[in-house]
Amino acid sequence: MNIAVVGTGYVGLVTGVSLSEIGHTVTCIDLDRQKVDKMKQGFSPIYEPGLEELMTKNIAAGRLFFTSQHSEGFKEADAIYIAVGTPERFDGTADLTYIKAAANDIAEHITKQVVVVTKSTVPVGTNDVIQNILSAGTDVECEVVSNPEFLREGSAVHDTFHGDRIVVGSSSEKAAKLMDDIYAPFNIPIFHTNVKSAEMIKYASNAFLATKISFINEIANLCDSLGANVEDVAAGMGQDDRIGSKFLNAGIGYGGSCFPKDTSALVQIASNVDHEFNLLRAVIDVNAHQQALPVHKIKEHFGGSVRGKKIALLGLAFKPNTDDMREAASIVVSQELILSGAEVVGYDPIATENAKKVLPEIMEYADSPEEATEGADAVIILTEWDEIKQLDLGLFTEKMLEPVVFDGRNCFDLKDASKHNIVYYSVGRPSVG
Ligand code: UGA
Repeated sequence: MNIAVVGTGYVGLVTGVSLSEIGHTVTCIDLDRQKVDKMKQGFSPIYEPGLEELMTKNIAAGRLFFTSQHSEGFKEADAIYIAVGTPERFDGTADLTYIKAAANDIAEHITKQVVVVTKSTVPVGTNDVIQNILSAGTDVECEVVSNPEFLREGSAVHDTFHGDRIVVGSSSEKAAKLMDDIYAPFNIPIFHTNVKSAEMIKYASNAFLATKISFINEIANLCDSLGANVEDVAAGMGQDDRIGSKFLNAGIGYGGSCFPKDTSALVQIASNVDHEFNLLRAVIDVNAHQQALPVHKIKEHFGGSVRGKKIALLGLAFKPNTDDMREAASIVVSQELILSGAEVVGYDPIATENAKKVLPEIMEYADSPEEATEGADAVIILTEWDEIKQLDLGLFTEKMLEPVVFDGRNCFDLKDASKHNIVYYSVGRPSVG
């Protein structure tokens, strides 16, 4: 089949590349010509494990193309995917400017019947807006299908080929059948529903996962006060199939481009129909508190003030295997520490360049965990990169005078920590030293 993808962010690019890998002819469209030139040579503008290998392979096989011209991408297309961004506005609503622009571009350039597939996360009802723009802008027959994505950054390629389900919201047998044909080679169950329910499945799924995280973080904070161990509590809870063991890792909260944005948007969507989504508001509040937890803990350790202390942050990205800094806890933590008079040095295996754009200018950066911890008064672990999890805790006794570690991702075993001469705090587990 011939497919066009509008937008080459991580959703669009991973979708386009994966569809070419299963045999479709795919043209990815992006207005940024420099980006298009790089992608044509097999370079990915985002860090996503496995993506460049697939790009190179499918470009060479003559199935994957890149262009900045809509007309070129749409010429032969049986399906056009919309995968542009829906950034959060100040009031928490989703900004649909790029979605509407994409719909207008499609209306302007299509010459043959096509199914328009919305991959971007859009508030319930948006696909009707897209359909109206298309109907008003062109006489060519086109139907809009909602097909939300459930990819995690950092494992997006893996998730595409091993997803639990593909959700398709459509309003005709014909469009549903076309989607079945597109996705057949993936061999993943396809869940068919109507357009609005598909839109809602996306928000409800992300909001539920965010709720699970805030819930376990509240339990962790209770464990802290009561002397229980949240890892054991989560493991014991997770053995109940109704609860499930995934997404019960306590830590310093969720970040990234999805959970924070989608939870705020769903609160907003609810309030538009006079519904106060109090549960989700609480989830968002708990998360804000949790992201600042390392600062409270470290201040408490130093008797209320970190003025003049050198503090090393290990891991800056919002999670491992990505260079994405959006809504990362490191933003809140570095700002608070610097405002409180601390000297802050950060280390991340991949995200440093992006970190420099969003963290306070006064921050310093190290090229290794060793360099970051040299002479530090305290270390805060913010991202559970493998490189950080595999550190020998002896490093801290070697590089620091009186080592204090706050591990915001519970990377180390408590028994291991107790073998070293360090003060070790983590989330929802007894402190050591
Ligand atoms: C999330 C969803 O997992 C995807 O299904 C969805 O498609 C995507 O949003 C999206 O809407 O585009 P992503 O934001 O890439 O994916 O990352 P996750 O792996 O879900 O992690 C999100 C945040 O939750 C990270 O900051 C992570 O550290 C945190 N987290 C996750 C926890 O604190 N505890 C956990 O147990 C799991």
